Parts: sequence; C-alpha cells; structure tokens
Amino acid sequence: MASGRGVFVTGTGTGVGKSVVAASIVAGLVARGHRVAAFKPVVTGLDEPDETWPMDHELLAAATGWQAASDVTPYTFGPAVSPHLAAQMANVSIDPNRLLEDFGELAAQAEFTVCEGVGGLLVPLSIDPPFSVLDLAKRLALPVVVAARPGLGTISDTRLAVDRLRSEALEVAAVVLSGWPSNTSSDDPSAVELSNRETISRLLNVEVAVLERTSPDELANAAESLPLASWIGDDGRGL
Ligand SMILES: Nc1ncnc2c1ncn2[C@@H]1O[C@H](COP(=O)(O)OP(=O)(O)OP(=O)(O)O)[C@@H](O)[C@H]1O
Ligand SMILES: [Mg+2]
Repeated sequence: MASGRGVFVTGTGTGVGKSVVAASIVAGLVARGHRVAAFKPVVTGLDEPDETWPMDHELLAAATGWQAASDVTPYTFGPAVSPHLAAQMANVSIDPNRLLEDFGELAAQAEFTVCEGVGGLLVPLSIDPPFSVLDLAKRLALPVVVAARPGLGTISDTRLAVDRLRSEALEVAAVVLSGWPSNTSSDDPSAVELSNRETISRLLNVEVAVLERTSPDELANAAESLPLASWIGDDGRGL
C-alpha cells in the first residue's frame, strides 16, 4: 500500500512514550509549517484518563492543529485492556480494512502522516482475522520510529523490536529514548542512560535520538532534539 510520507511510531511496550514521541513529531513538523495528520488504529482506556497527559487521540489531534480527536482513530474503548479484548468486551470487531481505509483518507489530506501503534509491536488488534500492530506497520510500509525507555532494561527490549522490524524488511528510521533527563534541570542523565544510548546505537547501527521530559504544551520545543528534517526530507534525503 502506498502510504505517502510519514512515520509509524511503535514502542518496546505499553507506556514507553509512543504518544509523547508521536505528538512531538507532529508538533515539531507543524511548527516548521508542515500539514501533518495523525492516526492511531485503536484507543483503549477512555474510562481511566491520566491527570497530566490527555488521551492519545486527543494529544495527537491537538498537535496537528486541525484534526478532531474523533478523526484520529476509528475505534475507542473504555477499559484499559488490549485492543482485541476491549473490542470483544464491546462486541465489536476491529476490521483491518477499515484501519487501512481511514489511514488512507487522512494521509490524502496531509503532507506527512504520523501513525502511533498500540502497546508493543506484536499486540493483536484483532484475533479473527489475525492482525497485529506489526501487520499494520507492514501494510502501511512507513519508516518506523521505535519509542523506548531510557533506563535499565531497555537494551534488550529495543533490540527485540528493531530486529523484528528489520526481519520484516521494515526500515527503522530511529530509536527515540523518551523521558530523557532535561538539559535545563539539575537531573543529568545517569551512567546507565548514557550507556544505553551509546550501546543501542552501536549494537543496532541505528540512529538513537532522545526526547527530554516534556509536557503537553511544550512538545514542539522538545521535538528540537529529533532529526525531523531528515524524516520529512528537508535535508534533501527524506524518507
Ligand atoms: N518525553 C516525556 N516527557 C514526559 N513524560 C513522558 C515522556 N515520555 C513518556 N512519558 C511518561 O510516560 C507516560 C507514558 O507515555 P505515553 O503515553 O507516550 O506511552 P505510550 O507508549 O504511548 O503508551 P500506550 O501504550 O498506552 O499508548 C506518559 O504519560 C508520561 O507520564
Ligand atoms: Mg500511547
């Protein structure tokens, strides 16, 4: 499927920073004058909102500056459980073709599209038919950004995700360590965090960017540390 330009943001698991990374990419590109669309196949957990961060589809929609939250995703569910279980509990089937169609409609309205996955790479979106986050990434065929935690345990998680993506012939644009200690705080990166950045880059021969600890209002500033120009092609290279 021809998806136009964009990135697919997956992660080493749930709660690792996919939404913060994806929304920062959107906000950073919007701040540079690009029209960007955001897509998320399924949002679960509407019944359990976070106090600091909006729900994924709300955060992404706000970052685009033009989408309504309801345009970002075709499927929302209340319980904070895996998409296939949430759908089953609601007696709904998640239709892979609907996901591809909705993505295509959004991509046609923007210069660049950012798709956030759900949980980790092998999370099932549907059991029957079998269709995982990885299957969606393969169908969209966009370069993939892998969000990962900066601290202890992230090397193995990141290697597993990147190895699997590459074994499926997907291009890994970068790993982004999200929640990196901020330059402006007295909270310097730890030896473990610094080593993780270096080790992941060396072992996987991949670009490793960091996204500082940020807030919903500061996403465009935080995105300054991401190699957005190469992702959108402003440097003549592009994806
Ligand atoms: N760069 C960051 N700055 C500040 N907080 C962050 C950052 N990255 C991650 N977090 C924290 O981690 C939490 C989880 O991040 P996020 O919601 O982006 O994860 P996710 O991978 O999208 O999770 P899900 O699987 O539920 O979609 C955030 O609510 C926030 O508290
Ligand atoms: Mg998320």
